[in-house]
Amino acid sequence: MSKPSVDKHLFVIFGGTGNLSLTKLLPALYNLLVKKNLKDVCQVLGVATKDIGDEGFREKAREALITAGFSKDEVDLWCDSCVHYQSLGKSPENYSPLAARIKSLEEDHNIKGNRVFYLALPPPSFPTVIKRIGESGLNKSSGWVRIVVEKPFGVDLSSARELNSLLHSYFDESQIYRIDHYLGKETVQNLLIFRFANTIFESLWSRDRIESVQITVAESIGIEGRASYYDRAGALRDIVQNHLAQLVTLIAMEPPAVFEADNIRSEKVKVLHSMPWIRPEYVVFGQYEKGTINNKEVSSYKEEPGTASDSSTETYVALRLEIDNWRWQGVPFYIRTGKRLPLRMTQIVINFRHPPICMFKPYSSCQIQSNRLLITLQPDEGFHLFFDVKEPEESLRLKTESLHFNYKEAFGPLPGAYQTLILDILEGDQTLFVRADEVEASWQLFTPLLEKDIPVHFYEAGTWGPKEADEFIARKGGIWLNQEVQM
Ligand code: BG6
Repeated sequence: MSKPSVDKHLFVIFGGTGNLSLTKLLPALYNLLVKKNLKDVCQVLGVATKDIGDEGFREKAREALITAGFSKDEVDLWCDSCVHYQSLGKSPENYSPLAARIKSLEEDHNIKGNRVFYLALPPPSFPTVIKRIGESGLNKSSGWVRIVVEKPFGVDLSSARELNSLLHSYFDESQIYRIDHYLGKETVQNLLIFRFANTIFESLWSRDRIESVQITVAESIGIEGRASYYDRAGALRDIVQNHLAQLVTLIAMEPPAVFEADNIRSEKVKVLHSMPWIRPEYVVFGQYEKGTINNKEVSSYKEEPGTASDSSTETYVALRLEIDNWRWQGVPFYIRTGKRLPLRMTQIVINFRHPPICMFKPYSSCQIQSNRLLITLQPDEGFHLFFDVKEPEESLRLKTESLHFNYKEAFGPLPGAYQTLILDILEGDQTLFVRADEVEASWQLFTPLLEKDIPVHFYEAGTWGPKEADEFIARKGGIWLNQEVQM
């Protein structure tokens, strides 16, 4: 494999001492540098308010990398030579010391002004930090400068627009990398290859052959101590507006004219623009009550530390989307997500149409299953294609069987999403990042639901959500596909 083309650069992590930086970014970055033989091109600068100096930050980085499974000797060497820290100290509004430090690191390491600014920060700090980077001139250099913004990107349409306009006052869109880590998952990227490199599926990929599409992001975990964020966000903002919207657009988009970032993203935006407003009767909100998961009792959402005792935040959303274009008109896209469901499972189900008549009636009950393509993203990545066969010896009994493909069986362990995304940032490839108009189109679709008083139904933790969600999909004759398919 050839070495990726990555210029020598400074990787600046705002929120360097935080959880995201230590548990996800540094391990992913280090793994990438080692695997791709890139250790000599990257210097890391952690930035935060704590006054811990280079040594204090190196200690944290070492600990994080060793916990992530890397060998101590190699990690020690890397941290001593490539990891640095700048405290914003008691006057975090003053970026002059930071600017001076960046300049001196670039000189010492012969870096020609190439900089990544990664905002691994709580979203309320984004605007201030973006402004300070811009006002202190750090967005300008003799090399390339890229800024990475984590999700959630805004809390509704107007806040997303404000954030976009602030970013655009200091950065060109080609410098902005809005992260949705779902796009870094190998199977999510593979949706495009699967669709556009294989004619057998693409020729069936429309309202002529597809009855409905169902996409599930189920989690057995609760809110994991994130009440201060989650109680204000809820599942619609946390998963639907971003991760689920991404999956829908990748499944529904038209082939791009060229396989290139802007062409691909334009096709995704068109899907969002083709969706009419979501009727409130097509939406079910839920919140978990106490229950049992994996034989362990878990508390209700309202009893989670930090949530309001009368909180009406939704931890479950099921809804039906429609896409009013030639390819998809009339095909319902059912999407759902929930916390404290029985298991962790992300899957896309393509339900093909039934045969127009049943010609086996005299011999069998004619319970013909429609063909189904199941794309699993978690916990196992792969595909299953279900079809009916005749059971041997029985006169004419039909049985559903499947063909399957499992990523790990074929290729071994897959790289983590952050590793993939960081490499793209370093190479300047924006395909897997969300463009300004895409984020706004998605908020345009979902913001009206935040403004409506959608009732929240309760469900026992460890079950598949409120019964209202089953009733809702049954109205059109559907059922949720709940079981995890063993690969
Ligand atoms: C994050 C959400 O974006 O995605 C979390 O904030 C959620 O609430 C997580 O648990 C799920 O990601 P993954 O990769 O584990 O499916």
